[in-house]
Amino acid sequence: MRVPFLDLRAEHAPILDELYSAIGEVLESGVFVGGEQVLALERELADHLNVHHVIGVNSGTDALRLALEGLGIGAGDEVIVPTYTFVATAAAVKHVGARPVFVDSGIDGFLIDAQGIEAAITPRTRAVIPVHLFGQAAAMDEILTLAKHRGLLVLEDAAQAFGARYRDNCVGTLGDAGAFSFYPSKILGGLGDGGSIVTNDSALAAKLRRLRNHGRESHTSHLEVGHNSRLDALQAAALRVKLRRVDAWNAQRREIAAIYRQGLANLPVVLPPVEQRSFNHFVIRASCRDRLKTWLADRGVETVIYYAVPCHRQPAFAADLTVSSFPFAEQLAQNALALPLYPSLPDVAAIHVCELIREFFDRVQ
Ligand SMILES: Cc1ncc(COP(=O)(O)O)c(C=O)c1O
Repeated sequence: MRVPFLDLRAEHAPILDELYSAIGEVLESGVFVGGEQVLALERELADHLNVHHVIGVNSGTDALRLALEGLGIGAGDEVIVPTYTFVATAAAVKHVGARPVFVDSGIDGFLIDAQGIEAAITPRTRAVIPVHLFGQAAAMDEILTLAKHRGLLVLEDAAQAFGARYRDNCVGTLGDAGAFSFYPSKILGGLGDGGSIVTNDSALAAKLRRLRNHGRESHTSHLEVGHNSRLDALQAAALRVKLRRVDAWNAQRREIAAIYRQGLANLPVVLPPVEQRSFNHFVIRASCRDRLKTWLADRGVETVIYYAVPCHRQPAFAADLTVSSFPFAEQLAQNALALPLYPSLPDVAAIHVCELIREFFDRVQ
């Protein structure tokens, strides 16, 4: 049985009519950038996430970059980020002229180590970006308490965690601002690039609306030098269709995760924590990861390695390193493996993946 890592055609198949009709509406309207579709998406997202303001932008990377700029972070500032994340988290810090200061993952998982954050604070530190990696919420209680105590801003990178909750609140809405990505492979993915910033701060929201549109305040007045980071109406229209399904899809993702959890029990692999309630990815850890990946690939199962080269080893950030030892991120780079997980993945496919992994440990190990 062939099991692809991701199958967006299968995800879209049951909603193709709705997607075509949404695209048709945009064609009829003749409005392709911003406009009513984007405003409606922003309202619907605000309701869904229970947050005051949503600002649609053209990618998750720009959501992070504009949020940092909106929060007043720039040259001479330091921003604490996990090293074990997609490079965009740290790149956004560089985009505003600040320095990313990397922190290792915690001993027990993928997420930034809250104690490591404290140790990395210097007089130049202005903010921290916890990343809710793979859909798992970072330790927000500790991070928010520390940030309040030390006067730091908190920008949540929720690119991979749409719908994940932390103590009854949606992640992304807990800090000063949160950033989401609508890249097609995300939990809420568009038909191209897209993203959004969420915040409960009205003044920040107004500034972000300007920054995404050339600093424009009115037709003739530009308060700041901003960017062209607007969300397309076609993306907004498609995202509105998919937003109506996202809770059900997240439930299906959890069901598949439960199949994996049961099918992989008692094997020499570390499973994602039980409290992970949203699954952009189901990432296991195995000391023989590379051989396991090859074994699965030879049998038609696609898997992905996140992140074989953590940020602290990327040439792009070589000049920013203040410490060079990140033992837990290095371990994850060696042993993490993401299994196929998406709402349309048939149960039999997940069971098949588990059986193959079991066979690997019986026969190959
Ligand atoms: C953790 C994280 N942050 C930021 C981003 C950037 O989002 P985008 O690709 O929409 O720019 C991604 C996307 O992969 C991500 O996974």
